[in-house]
Amino acid sequence: MHAFIIHGGKPLNGTVKISGAKNSALKLMCAAILTEDPLELHNLPELDDITSMARLLAHLGLKLSSHENNELTLQADNITHLDAPYELVKRMRASIIVLGPMLARFGKAKVSLPGGCAIGARPVDMHLKALEQMGAKIDIEEGYVLAECPRLQGAEINFDKVSVGATENILMAATLANGVTIINNAAREPEIGDLANCLVKMGAKIDGIGTSTLRVEGVDKLHGCTHEVIADRIEAGSFIIAAAITGGEIEVQGVTPEIFGSCYDSMLEAGIEIIVGSNSLKAKSSKLKAVDITTKPFPGFATDMQAQFMSLMCLADGNSHIKETIFENRFMHVPELMRMGANISITGNEAVVHGVAKLKGAEVMATDLRASFSLVLAALAAEGQTKMSRIYHIDRGYEKVEQKLRALGADIERIIEEK
Ligand code: UD1
Repeated sequence: MHAFIIHGGKPLNGTVKISGAKNSALKLMCAAILTEDPLELHNLPELDDITSMARLLAHLGLKLSSHENNELTLQADNITHLDAPYELVKRMRASIIVLGPMLARFGKAKVSLPGGCAIGARPVDMHLKALEQMGAKIDIEEGYVLAECPRLQGAEINFDKVSVGATENILMAATLANGVTIINNAAREPEIGDLANCLVKMGAKIDGIGTSTLRVEGVDKLHGCTHEVIADRIEAGSFIIAAAITGGEIEVQGVTPEIFGSCYDSMLEAGIEIIVGSNSLKAKSSKLKAVDITTKPFPGFATDMQAQFMSLMCLADGNSHIKETIFENRFMHVPELMRMGANISITGNEAVVHGVAKLKGAEVMATDLRASFSLVLAALAAEGQTKMSRIYHIDRGYEKVEQKLRALGADIERIIEEK
């Protein structure tokens, strides 16, 4: 297994180009199922999760050809399988997103239930209930969702919670349904807007993009298009915090303030100074202040930035209250941060971070994707050496992470641990 050795205490300085958003790219790849024409995606990040999705789509029979410069063409003109087996789904929960497009285009799909993951149970009941409302017959057998419907029918879907995945699944299913689908209480994450914009280019009729009510008028057929994946706001936010926590100055390229939602305001409140360019942000900080945050659906504070922000708060002046409302088990980075000298107490879904003057390197373990970057941040700011194991989590979602950090002056090395 790979591990990082990080020697902290060096300010990170320079410019970093933000990669395409993982959470957008994965869903855009699934959109290729909706048409027999080629879908050409640009700015696709090179990540383990993207490879896992590519493997699943190849199993279904899609032709995938990757080109240089992070481009990939997908074509679903000869689907050979209508099943997503557990072996391929268990690596990545986003695999459930193939369900809506498969059902919409082929009238049938068998998709393994993804199961829980480290950060929580993560059920898919909302996806299934909405597809049933659109006329699908759904059975669960031996851990698989068996769904059938000759043609999905438009329906009014009222989600009782905000779900990114369920919104995307139903949005895609609705593009080829018979009649109009209204999705109320839809998630508004920028990645959903990116998917919807691509679907519109493919011929879908969607109104309300960027709002919590999406109206989709089903069409008989979609066609191919070329689409560029938006920049990854979570990667960008992570690098902004890297500048602040190390006392350096980093320009993140390819992003604007709006994509961060309220996370942007929290970063400013914490004392990060941000100079806004035309398509870039330059961040630095002098004195870090404690800020309270509560994770919420977009435009609220992103749960995917909670762990990284907590690392920053470990070195802020004062006490910060951090409340996690999206996933039930998303404080696994806390014991690891405490090994590095952080002072954090947890009660239920709320953590109180008491700022300390410094962190110290230690042996720590990455527990999930975003938590792993929070530990990298803490290690970059800490005195001495940190050895971080289980970094396969970070490879799922941060493209060329150590190359990018090294270019900014970080002392980070990947080693292969003997086990
Ligand atoms: C996506 C993101 C993930 C991010 C999350 C919240 C991808 C690949 N992943 O995950 O990085 O942290 O949004 O912004 O895009 N829920 C149900 N029933 C359902 C579906 C969801 O109860 O059928 C619950 C979940 O357990 C969770 C909440 O709704 O508590 C939000 O989850 P959701 O927005 O669906 O997250 P994902 O789409 O899985």
